[in-house]
Amino acid sequence: METPSQSLKNSPLPKLGGFRDCIRLEAFRANRSFFSFQQVIQHTAKDLSVWEILRPLIRPHLPILTAATLLNALHGFAITFQVFTVGWLIDWVLGKGAVPPDMWRRAIALGIAYFLVSVIGRMLVWHIGYRLYTKVRERILSALRARFFRQLNALCLRFHMKRSSGELFSYLFGSPLQNVIQFYQHCAGGLAGAFTKIGSAVGILVWTDWTLTAVMSLTVCSQVYMMDRARRVSRKLHLDYQKQESAVTGSVADILRGSRAVKLHAMESTVEGEFGEQLQIIAHKSYERDVRTHFAWMKQETISYAGFALMIVACAWRFSSGKVTIGEVSMFMLAFQQLSSPLTTISQAFTLWGAAQASLERIAEVLRESSTTPDPEENSKSVPPAGDLEFRRVTFAYEQKTVLSDLNFTIPYGQSVALVGPSGSGKSTIAQLMLRLYDPNEGSISFGGQDIRLCEGAEVRKRFGVVPQDPFIFKTTIRKNIQVAKPDATDAEIEFVCRQANAWEFIQKLAGGLDTRVGEGGSNLSGGQRQRLAIARAILSNPPVFLFDEATSALDTISEQLIQDTLKQVCAGRTSIIIAHRLATVRDCQRILVVRNGQIQQDGTYDSLIAIPGLFRELVDGQQLATS
Ligand SMILES: Nc1ncnc2c1ncn2[C@@H]1O[C@H](COP(=O)(O)OP(=O)(O)O)[C@@H](O)[C@H]1O
Ligand SMILES: [Mg+2]
Repeated sequence: METPSQSLKNSPLPKLGGFRDCIRLEAFRANRSFFSFQQVIQHTAKDLSVWEILRPLIRPHLPILTAATLLNALHGFAITFQVFTVGWLIDWVLGKGAVPPDMWRRAIALGIAYFLVSVIGRMLVWHIGYRLYTKVRERILSALRARFFRQLNALCLRFHMKRSSGELFSYLFGSPLQNVIQFYQHCAGGLAGAFTKIGSAVGILVWTDWTLTAVMSLTVCSQVYMMDRARRVSRKLHLDYQKQESAVTGSVADILRGSRAVKLHAMESTVEGEFGEQLQIIAHKSYERDVRTHFAWMKQETISYAGFALMIVACAWRFSSGKVTIGEVSMFMLAFQQLSSPLTTISQAFTLWGAAQASLERIAEVLRESSTTPDPEENSKSVPPAGDLEFRRVTFAYEQKTVLSDLNFTIPYGQSVALVGPSGSGKSTIAQLMLRLYDPNEGSISFGGQDIRLCEGAEVRKRFGVVPQDPFIFKTTIRKNIQVAKPDATDAEIEFVCRQANAWEFIQKLAGGLDTRVGEGGSNLSGGQRQRLAIARAILSNPPVFLFDEATSALDTISEQLIQDTLKQVCAGRTSIIIAHRLATVRDCQRILVVRNGQIQQDGTYDSLIAIPGLFRELVDGQQLATS
């Protein structure tokens, strides 16, 4: 029978999807908070209009949407019928002056017609249309959210450093998408019906008396004009508000994530003060948005009241000149009042569209972004299963300041190499470039002779088992956190790698063992425990290259020594790149690269480097001084 260790060794390199890479990004992302959030110039934007984004999402549902719109329009005719029933009751059932002999027959016929049109033409048809709209809404929303999420995962670290996760989260579930939903729901409620209601009512009224209809239409047109103005005002105000809200959401999420640091530095009153200031700004913007939108609305309502006053006079004039009957006057007055409801619907649709458009524009802004480490569009090269790692004339800058300049080195497959150097010298940056989390500005990096720029980033990262400086632990069970590296790993495999990573002892002591849930960002684990889990993950992924970025920095020297011993066995026959601060731990590495100011200053074995004066000896002496 195969032991877990054999099965691990024999298993092929894990074939995992984007999730694992996303997790690696997360891990590096958790590490980035001390870097500044400056504008990044390398981003290029795709030319993509809001409509181009929406079209593919809507197209598959066009037949259902058309059917829903037709049903909705149909219900508008039914409402017009209801409105005019009053006029027909007065003139046709009760008669103009004398009661007609078949009044009862007429009354019953009108009553039945009214009832049937109301129940079938209005309620049933309306409801079916609404159902269809709502079903399509959910499908489109899911597709949009999925597309947005896919885009976030595809975007590079440069992008993620610019945007806070709180802000991005709000795009998917906060007010931007809510605005779009609100607009859609409003249309589903009766926008098409509003148009047919106005159209059919005006049609009948023109046929009855065009002069009265003209007066009414004049008012209607003025109203529409005012609506358009209201829409513009509203759009600008909503955009302003949303920007502010996103900024606040982002910074609050940041503060909550850093709650430990807030307590540690006794920053409670400072952050409360800052939060209070932001609340004031947001309250002011929100007040201004609503009050000014409301005022724009009031202006258009005033026009409608003036119109009604005019209608009163006009009706008296047309009746006295014998052009319209009492029933027709009542139809006009009722229609005038009833028309305000579809007009309101249309006008609100304009306002809501203003907000929805602003939101879509912001969502589109993210969808337009392109990664600075794009996967090749076609003919992407496959990453060799193992091989030498070569940096050739690599120059790199996060922003303007050059971090690595003209870097050249080759790590033959199977070598164990240490990267050492003062902090800030560029060691972690070198690691991120190997993983294709960033691409070099100049020069090239190859793995097994293959330029990794021509390969998919996710494929490159599958070749590496990474333990980042501050590993990210997900808010789930320990088992799932380790399975990140291999989703189908059995408990035996997990136990095996945890023992190797010296993590089994503490996991066993937890009440739930592997099923223990750990907190957000692994907050109920110590730094050392998080590192041990991350080491277990890396071992489980069974990669050809291990990359440890200060992976044991949070461990005590005894645990560190224990892990070093097992890592030596695990890494045997594969490449291991160890970024280390404590130089005693790199004594056994076959080769040491000493980095300073983004350049390799020294390259040799521990013994050869310590024998000559230079940066390495200075660093070692400095540490010995510190420990003696
Ligand atoms: N995401 C980033 N954005 C901007 N500058 C960065 C970023 N990451 C690192 N730097 C800068 O690059 C330099 C090298 O950093 P790093 O590679 O993390 O050093 P090391 O790992 O050797 O301590 C430092 O000056 C650091 O400030
Ligand atoms: Mg570092």
